[in-house]
Amino acid sequence: MRTVQSSALCCLLPASFSPALHCLVLLLLCITPRCQAVQAENVTVLEGGTAQISCRLQKYDGSIVVIQNPRRQTLFFNGTRALKDDRFQMMLFSPTMVRITLTNVSVSDEGGYFCQLYTDSTHHQVATLSVSVPPEIPTVEVKQEAVEGGEAELTCVSPRSKPAATLRWMRNGREIPGVVSQQDNGKTFSVSSTIRIPVERKDNGAALNCEALHPSLGGQNRVRRYRLDVYFAPTVRIIPPSGILREGDSLSLTCSITGNPLPRTTQWSKINDTLPERAEISGPTLQIARLSQSHNGTYLCQAQNNYGRAADYYTLLVYDPGAVVETHSAVPYAVIGGVLALLVFTVICVLIVTIWCSVRQKGSYRTREPILTWY
Ligand SMILES: *[C@@H]1O[C@H](CO)[C@@H](O)[C@H](O)[C@H]1NC(C)=O
Ligand SMILES: *[C@@H]1O[C@H](CO)[C@@H](O)[C@H](O)[C@H]1NC(C)=O
Ligand SMILES: *[C@@H]1O[C@H](CO)[C@@H](O)[C@H](O)[C@H]1NC(C)=O
Ligand SMILES: *[C@@H]1O[C@H](CO)[C@@H](O)[C@H](O)[C@H]1NC(C)=O
Ligand SMILES: *[C@@H]1O[C@H](CO)[C@@H](O)[C@H](O)[C@H]1NC(C)=O
Repeated sequence: MRTVQSSALCCLLPASFSPALHCLVLLLLCITPRCQAVQAENVTVLEGGTAQISCRLQKYDGSIVVIQNPRRQTLFFNGTRALKDDRFQMMLFSPTMVRITLTNVSVSDEGGYFCQLYTDSTHHQVATLSVSVPPEIPTVEVKQEAVEGGEAELTCVSPRSKPAATLRWMRNGREIPGVVSQQDNGKTFSVSSTIRIPVERKDNGAALNCEALHPSLGGQNRVRRYRLDVYFAPTVRIIPPSGILREGDSLSLTCSITGNPLPRTTQWSKINDTLPERAEISGPTLQIARLSQSHNGTYLCQAQNNYGRAADYYTLLVYDPGAVVETHSAVPYAVIGGVLALLVFTVICVLIVTIWCSVRQKGSYRTREPILTWY
């Protein structure tokens, strides 16, 4: 008898108290309304926990005390176990109090526990035992695959709780209202909440939470984290080599691919031709060593998944080792030319403004001269 519930403290005194003191304390405490409430108190316990069921005796005359379960089966006959269920233990039998405990409580133990004197079937006390079943962490079921531009349909399921848990879908701290359905499975409830949300490519990997709220959890919600998996067709981009390529150089083209699911293979090909013998493909990279002009042509990178296919191309031009190539250098020259032109223009502007200012100043002196002579 070591477990002491704070609410039942006034009637629960260690046996080490002397009987006289015990009685005195009980008398003092039990005339307070708090203790009266304890006697009538119903017991609520978590499933799997331990319940204490107490019965107060008044003017006990030594007659037989019978304790019965909700099915009116006798558990204890004057302190002796009658029902073969080890989970019930007689903890206290005093002239003022009988207390039993029930360990590993299940929902089927719920109901009224009777306490009565064998000689007096008209008077009995009933302690009502209620069992609370907290929800487990809910699960998420995907009802409809999330494809870019479509809708995702997700159901959060809490299969067992008592009373029924409340489910809440959250995204970035905001609740997404769901369609809730509740099913009564006898003693416990199963609850589900379904949401439909439009999805775009950027929603791939977005975090959603499904929270199960329950009075027995005291605010410590059970949370299932879920990451949105948004399917989309691939995108393909060839990263071209920088600068021009001449005979003898080597070519390395890398194909950058996105997509969900990510395409597993990259297909390289050459338009209107077969890939050169020297071409080496490793994953998304195509390499050709010692380029020659016969390698000129358009190279294509393609990828596909269940949601579509995509391609990008690169046109290879292989130049003579000695060729003077103006295409790439033309751009810097144009830039330098532009900058030079701008500089010359600025200098001319500054000159014009300076000249104009000095001319105006001289003019104003001239106009002032006659005014000065007036004074
Ligand atoms: C105890 O539970 C029973 C049955 O649910 C109810 O009738 C009674 O009023 C309850 N007593 C208290 C003190 O809550
Ligand atoms: C019932 O048990 C109580 C407590 O052990 C005892 O005092 C009483 O004599 C018993 N009554 C009978 C009829 O055996
Ligand atoms: C508690 O009871 C359940 C069935 O109600 C049983 O499956 C479980 O093994 C029990 N646990 C213990 C520790 O006795
Ligand atoms: C491929 O060949 C076809 C038909 O001969 C022609 O119309 C097309 O322009 C060629 N494409 C390339 C990229 O050379
Ligand atoms: C390859 O391209 C370069 C650059 O346009 C050109 O000078 C050369 O003649 C081409 N060679 C062949 C075989 O087409």
